[in-house]
Amino acid sequence: MLDTTHFPKAKKYWLMGKLYPWSERPLHPMVHALHYGTSVFEGIRAYGTSSGPKIFRLPEHVERFFVSADVVKMKVPYTPEEVTAAIKQTVRENEMESCYIRPLFYYAYGNLGLIPKASPVELVIAAWEWGSYMGETAVNGIRVYLGPWRRTHHSQVDMRAKLGGAYVQSTISGLEARAIGADEALFLNIEGRIAEGPGENLFVVKNGVIRTNALSESILEGITRTSILEIARDLGIKTEIGPISTGDLTGADEAFFTGTAVEVIPIIQLIDGSDRNTPRRETVIGQGKPGPVSLRLRQAYLDIVRGKNPKYEKWLSPLD
Ligand SMILES: Cc1ncc(COP(=O)(O)O)c(C=O)c1O
Repeated sequence: MLDTTHFPKAKKYWLMGKLYPWSERPLHPMVHALHYGTSVFEGIRAYGTSSGPKIFRLPEHVERFFVSADVVKMKVPYTPEEVTAAIKQTVRENEMESCYIRPLFYYAYGNLGLIPKASPVELVIAAWEWGSYMGETAVNGIRVYLGPWRRTHHSQVDMRAKLGGAYVQSTISGLEARAIGADEALFLNIEGRIAEGPGENLFVVKNGVIRTNALSESILEGITRTSILEIARDLGIKTEIGPISTGDLTGADEAFFTGTAVEVIPIIQLIDGSDRNTPRRETVIGQGKPGPVSLRLRQAYLDIVRGKNPKYEKWLSPLD
């Protein structure tokens, strides 16, 4: 049996139309994606609601999944409808109230030249219970590390895509952040402004207005980011899309990350290590504790994903 400490409650995964017991491993080590990161993925969550588990913004995730596959020129053997059905089946079969869902298209076994000319595209879907991404205390606010590595620029890679290989940069910076005692990393873009976290978008709050940056700042267009912008407008909170400098962040009243995994997490401190030639600088953001706008949006988001706000039922897909 495989150790499932980090995959709680995972029973089965879906691979090319068949469900496998979690501990079974049918993949060959010469799978193309294992060597070159030639895979694309999604991170999706299902939440328990009063009428059973529902998947948050599933059509949007499936759409982005196919955009990603297109960026790596994949000839995908399934339609979006089939992928949607397979995701729902995987969640049903694992019998969980709430879970994290990971679909992955990858160039599979066939050849190992960089061009996957004989490697077919395969699909795997897994689901497991994944609580708070950065631990239960993250809601009290996290410390982020602005490291020296600049985020890959949108002129270098198509940032609409969640490309497996592109995430090596996120892993390295995430490890470096933890090595210096921070909770998460943060990237500058090539222009020297703030881009995003390794798996999160950034918002700053100033005088009651929330601001996040545009896609031209080298970020992934997060589905949580889009959702928070819509929720904020509905709550009468003014929103802005525009560049965020380091000074905008350190001078903000509040800041928070958004993402499927982290949901909405307040940021209370910046550790700036972006200049290799000067010592790291620590700055408290706002009052050094989660602020009222972040907490209000976090609660509104959590209510919506759990089906407690009928207006947003449109964002929840039942398992059928
Ligand atoms: C690099 C990056 N930015 C932002 C996000 C947030 O995106 P979403 O809200 O769609 O999960 C993610 C997570 O998928 C990500 O990997």
